Amino acid sequence: MRAVVARQYGPPEVFELQNLPDPQLKPGQVLIRVKAAGINFADILSRMGLYGGVPKPPFVPGLEISGVIEDVADNLPAQAAGLRKGMRVAALTKFKGYAELVAVPASQVFPIPDRVSFEDAAAIPVNYLTAYHSMFQMGNLQAGDRILIHAAAGGVGVAAIQLAKARKLVIFGTAGSAKQDYLRSIGVHYPIDYTKEDFVEVVRRAAPDGIELAFDAVGGDYFKRSQRCLGPGGRLVVYGFSAAVGADGKRSLWRIAKALLQTRLYHPLPMIDQNLAVIGVHLGRMQGREALMKKEMDEILRMYEAGEVKPVIGKSFPLAQAADAHRFIHARQNIGKVLLTI
Ligand SMILES: NC(=O)c1ccc[n+]([C@@H]2O[C@H](COP(=O)([O-])OP(=O)(O)OC[C@H]3O[C@@H](n4cnc5c(N)ncnc54)[C@H](OP(=O)(O)O)[C@@H]3O)[C@@H](O)[C@H]2O)c1
Repeated sequence: MRAVVARQYGPPEVFELQNLPDPQLKPGQVLIRVKAAGINFADILSRMGLYGGVPKPPFVPGLEISGVIEDVADNLPAQAAGLRKGMRVAALTKFKGYAELVAVPASQVFPIPDRVSFEDAAAIPVNYLTAYHSMFQMGNLQAGDRILIHAAAGGVGVAAIQLAKARKLVIFGTAGSAKQDYLRSIGVHYPIDYTKEDFVEVVRRAAPDGIELAFDAVGGDYFKRSQRCLGPGGRLVVYGFSAAVGADGKRSLWRIAKALLQTRLYHPLPMIDQNLAVIGVHLGRMQGREALMKKEMDEILRMYEAGEVKPVIGKSFPLAQAADAHRFIHARQNIGKVLLTI
């Protein structure tokens, strides 16, 4: 099979399309012929060697795919017993997604309705599960609550906006200048251009009592500034650290150190006085919670079928152009999701 291999950690040029042996099915796994692979910011961090648990190079990146089941091993867990050859599915993968074939534990495989295209299916698992789990499972958001979403025009950002709209939340969203009209067009009540405005001031002006939840994967000084937007009972969801990455895609210890130094350290006792919750979310570390993930995915697919959510595909690249796809994200050109298609 063909797969994109990161030959070493580094800029997008480390990628090479190679012929590798087909994956061998292990007990409890499903073999999937990939139609589309989602590109996530975690792949950028993995390629740079900055993502927790990334394999040593050479490795095949990629954390989610859609495709058709090619083969099913024995001993599937009970909740995955219905998976059959020929079924259309989406799946979370532990790396290895930028490939024509991938073997995945059956518990991470989600059958998709006929109406969901392979492109949409590859854009759903990471972005929508992360947003849904953060906002409603961990963040307990209710109709009328106010949410601040950073990188609002990105993959997770657009998913979060759609979910927020469906649940009647008031939405503040930050993005670069070129994306402001887009944010307005998809229903963000307060689009914020972070190059021109201080998002804390905009939020506090509109919501002097402070908002209910800030959804922050930029990090660095954003974490403490996001916290300043919250009122009593506010939740700061931290789920990424994009600030560690520069536009050239090269690893910079200076940039990483600066972002870390800007990060507030939390002691639990002041959080009592502040009525503050700081919530970490990592979709890749949900082992043992597969039933919860499945329940959340069922609800997301129900919302898809009801027309409440629909992935926005910013751009699709052929598998061989994975490096270009990563450069596109480094240049902050994406609106919505970036995919590799096969
Ligand atoms: N914890 C989890 O389970 C989990 C799951 C999924 C994603 N995440 C995190 O969520 C964040 C968003 O992920 P995504 O895959 O949806 O990516 P994305 O938002 O589509 O990423 C690209 C966008 O992020 C913004 N950005 C901010 N800082 C950036 C930087 N230093 N370099 C490049 N872009 C930057 C840019 O938008 P502007 O032009 O508006 O600045 C850019 O267009 C990432 O931090 C990712 O690691 C975490």
